Amino acid sequence: MDLVEMTLSDREFGRIKERVYRIAGLSLSDSKRTLVVSRLSKIVRGLGLGSFDAYIDFLEKTQNAHDQQNFVNALTTNLTRFYREDHHFEHLEHYIGNLMAQRPRIGPDGKPRLRIWSAGCSTGQEPYTIALCLLAAFPDLKRWDFRILATDIDTDVIAKAAQGIYPVSELNDLSNQRAALFEKLDSGSIRIPAAARQLVAFKPLNLMEEWPMKGTFDAIFCRNVAIYFDRPTQTKLFQRLGKALAPDGFLYIGHSENLGSGADGFKSLGKTIFQVKSGQRAKDAA
Ligand SMILES: C[S@@+](CC[C@H](N)C(=O)[O-])C[C@H]1O[C@@H](n2cnc3c(N)ncnc32)[C@H](O)[C@@H]1O
Repeated sequence: MDLVEMTLSDREFGRIKERVYRIAGLSLSDSKRTLVVSRLSKIVRGLGLGSFDAYIDFLEKTQNAHDQQNFVNALTTNLTRFYREDHHFEHLEHYIGNLMAQRPRIGPDGKPRLRIWSAGCSTGQEPYTIALCLLAAFPDLKRWDFRILATDIDTDVIAKAAQGIYPVSELNDLSNQRAALFEKLDSGSIRIPAAARQLVAFKPLNLMEEWPMKGTFDAIFCRNVAIYFDRPTQTKLFQRLGKALAPDGFLYIGHSENLGSGADGFKSLGKTIFQVKSGQRAKDAA
């Protein structure tokens, strides 16, 4: 049987939707039917199974983490680019400049401490843009205790991001000044310079599960991620992100996203930039 021609019944689509929602919070609309068929049929064929029903039955039984992960990886949307929505990086630069000049948090090693989280980082363009911007803006940065945590549920994009190598076409829409920040490789690819790569730690993390991080973040980028979730899931996520922010820290979300009923406790600074209201922290602590 040619499984490229596999059909997806309403019942099968329903089972797939239920599963990816339960695991990853992803809310698949009917417009995603064709995409689901094209992405999953390759996997189903690879497993030697004859239908999507057989595939879901298989996933319900198997203990194989790789197979479970492949299902999720196949259904994520990973579109991203360097300097996407660049007003956020301008804002971040300005904020970090003020923070470091006025009241840096000092870590146990006596260095100014700064933590940024790129939640739903895809193939890494977002956290690397943060690193490149801040390295260019703050020559002292190398002396700070500065780390960027970059997480995603999709283990394929995390592996790609950690390499820091991209096709040269990624530079197409960048100014010459920005393009000059990347290393050009003989292969025709570009690489993130070591100074920027060393600042970023990539880890797999499902935002629907427990977050293992202990401390808070001075800034969180969670952009173009919640757009794939339904409202109740978004609200819960934004409230958790608010708790993960340091006092005065900022949350950056995607251009087509809003906090909806998760906005409680945040004040908007416009342009999809938010800060936790100071009174809210006292309420949370009570
Ligand atoms: C469209 S990309 C956004 C990338 C980047 N933040 C940007 O704005 O350019 C969305 C990312 O969210 C990730 N994602 C979706 N559901 C997730 C979840 N439950 N936990 C963590 N990451 C998730 C996807 O794997 C995907 O890489």
